[in-house]
Amino acid sequence: MSKKRSAKIIDGKKISAAILQDLKEDIAALRARGVAPGLAVVLVGANPASEVYVKAKRRTCIDLGIESFSHDLPESCTEKRLLKLIEKLNEDPRVHGILVQMPLPEHISEKKVLEAISPDKDVDGFHPVNVGRLLNGEECFVSCTPAGCQALLLRSGYDPAGKHVVIVGRSNIVGKPLAALLMQKANGANATVTVCHSHTRNISKITREADILIAAMGRPEFVKPNMVREGAIVLDVGVNRIPDATKKSGTRLVGDVAFAGVSRKARAITPVPGGVGPMTIAMLMTNTVKAARRAADRKRGRA
Ligand code: GUN
Repeated sequence: MSKKRSAKIIDGKKISAAILQDLKEDIAALRARGVAPGLAVVLVGANPASEVYVKAKRRTCIDLGIESFSHDLPESCTEKRLLKLIEKLNEDPRVHGILVQMPLPEHISEKKVLEAISPDKDVDGFHPVNVGRLLNGEECFVSCTPAGCQALLLRSGYDPAGKHVVIVGRSNIVGKPLAALLMQKANGANATVTVCHSHTRNISKITREADILIAAMGRPEFVKPNMVREGAIVLDVGVNRIPDATKKSGTRLVGDVAFAGVSRKARAITPVPGGVGPMTIAMLMTNTVKAARRAADRKRGRA
């Protein structure tokens, strides 16, 4: 009987813990300069998934020595009130990063809110100024999930330079910025990038050509073994809750990749949970420290 190969598991928990550990030194150095990095996390309403994410972000701040400013607003909060709060946070020198958790209630324009955040405090990297700078290859805040994918590849020894990266999914939060990031003429990038989506014809033919395949379309276990080249590196950005009668909760988390089958073909793969997810918070903290360092440098420049 032939022994089935099994992919190396890319451990996002371990890699994110190492990044956070390194950040502690940067935070200590900033504090020694009299600057305490601060992140404001704004939650509107009571979306259970958002509550879990926000709690994790605030707890990580506290663990690292980043000041956490919490603003929990009711579902009924008006757009005007939220915009006023952002204006106040933009002007608050203790706040270096501002994160407004998405999704927002329907009566509030996400676009207006994101555009109200100062690009200098946009640690989510969602402001059009930062998105434009990313596309132009300029210094900017890169959104956290794409930055996390790049860091996972590099820290696992899979430099995307010269590789064919196929991204499945074209969202503004993941697919599009990830394509821009990995195609840059820059260290840690220089990939040949293809983006597939719901209108792509013969998608399996394209995904099978990937040296690095990144699934980010939000469809449970969409990527099947026949879509993956033998020896490919597979990153799974998906987080989907599906029914599972064998679980006490009646559900379980799966990614956008059919993990069991694909891990027999891939060279390395991220699990769900414990892959890309923990990296998103590590990159948020990294961006917050960068925002604080930039603010401190600006202050020194003015002195
Ligand atoms: N909702 C889901 N993911 C994110 C994220 O990365 N940032 C914000 N602000 N909201 C989200």
